[in-house]
Amino acid sequence: MNSKSIIHKLPKIVKEGRKIAEEIINRPLDNTYFQREKIIPGGKEESINSGSFDGWINKFYYGDNLKVIESLLKEGYGGKIDLIYIDPPFLTKANYKGKIVLKKGKEEEVIEYFAYRDVWEEGLITYLKMLYVRIFLMRELLSHKGTIYVHLDYRTVHYVKILMDEIFGEENFLNEIIWAYKSGGVSHKYYSRKHDNILVYTKGKDYIFNPQLEKSYNRGLKPYRFKGVKEYKDEIGWYTLVNLKDVWQIDMVGRTSKERIGYDTQKPIKLLERIILTSSNEDSIVADFYAGSGTTGITAEMHKRKWIMADKGALSYTTINNRLMENQSSPYYIYKDPSNSKRAGKLNIKNIEIVKNEKGREELYIELGGYQLDIEKINIRERYRPKIEEVLNRNSLSLIDFIGIDMDYDGNNPLIHWQDYKDKDNMTIHPIIRLEIGNTDNRKIYIKYIDVFGQENSITYEVNDGRLGLYEY
Ligand SMILES: C[S@@+](CC[C@H](N)C(=O)[O-])C[C@H]1O[C@@H](n2cnc3c(N)ncnc32)[C@H](O)[C@@H]1O
Repeated sequence: MNSKSIIHKLPKIVKEGRKIAEEIINRPLDNTYFQREKIIPGGKEESINSGSFDGWINKFYYGDNLKVIESLLKEGYGGKIDLIYIDPPFLTKANYKGKIVLKKGKEEEVIEYFAYRDVWEEGLITYLKMLYVRIFLMRELLSHKGTIYVHLDYRTVHYVKILMDEIFGEENFLNEIIWAYKSGGVSHKYYSRKHDNILVYTKGKDYIFNPQLEKSYNRGLKPYRFKGVKEYKDEIGWYTLVNLKDVWQIDMVGRTSKERIGYDTQKPIKLLERIILTSSNEDSIVADFYAGSGTTGITAEMHKRKWIMADKGALSYTTINNRLMENQSSPYYIYKDPSNSKRAGKLNIKNIEIVKNEKGREELYIELGGYQLDIEKINIRERYRPKIEEVLNRNSLSLIDFIGIDMDYDGNNPLIHWQDYKDKDNMTIHPIIRLEIGNTDNRKIYIKYIDVFGQENSITYEVNDGRLGLYEY
């Protein structure tokens, strides 16, 4: 008997994991965990979600998901979430990246930036300890009709299955979905690995399950003409529609895919669509605590679900924020763990004043001078440093990913009505900002910006009797 085998370690992982989870549940909430701000993409309060969901606002947490789950539990979300999908690191012992496109003059520079690390000190043991506590607490968040999907691959799925049997009860194991895909790379020493495994557990027996249909091609691709069976034809041949099976053939987000945003482990919308449509309803809350590029929230919103997402990576933070902007998503809250926020760069405000516009109305006029950044503080490969230096010299504003303004800041929770951000068409934010200010009564103006490395900073100005002065930088 191999005493080093993982089977001997599992009881300890479970015992310790439960103890930690119970301590977390029982301790009082630490209110310093998250600072909140509200983003209103395009300044439009009205959108698919607002109004129809009793004032619900979607939530993105930028921080470790253990703290996020704890806060949600303590804020009363226990038993409220109908669907959780998670796609945690797979124990690949690799680092993952994302692509950042910078513009200097007419040319583009593409650099790779760290996204997340999938290396674990004691390998599988540390990995399973990390996951056990989190999945145990996620179960507490699930509603009685709730379902959890845990996306893994051959490296850990068999061990996580045992842990999940312990947490949810074997009787609540619903399926193992095989997501099969085509991807580059073949092996001559083993069968090429071309699938992921998704474990599905429900909280109980009364779970949401809206069967979805898929095409099933007829043998010989010819019509059967069975009585009472509806048949269809496409460019491949004749088929019927059947309830979805547990092996899903869906393309990965490939290099040429329109969906692709350059985040290494981005999952396809089609995959999330099946999960969300099957295991949630229109008013359900759908959560993803390893959000990455934000596919779950984007897909949930497409199908009028409420969403909660969390990720601790800086690249994920900027990727999700800009993806939501581009999508013209409903207003959402960003909850930030202050210990996660890094400040490195400074935006140079060349000129800021209140002027009268053509219509005779008071307007806030801002001219951005550029962005200063100490690249020594950025964790990036040496070979990219000269490229960033050049962009800093020639078009430093291309390093700003997002800029947002609260024209009437309450000093605590910014409400970002106005934004400019980098996207595929607009590779650099505009250096001139003009915003009607309404009136010039005493108020604070809060300007927040995030650079392409996920570092953010803010400047606050004060307007007193029509005069503008710097309040805080
Ligand atoms: C495989 S990726 C998720 C990809 C995502 N499904 C998508 O479609 O883009 C895993 C993510 O988990 C995040 N992550 C890892 N550990 C975390 C933790 N403890 N708390 C929050 N996020 C975490 C990483 O930053 C990474 O973005």
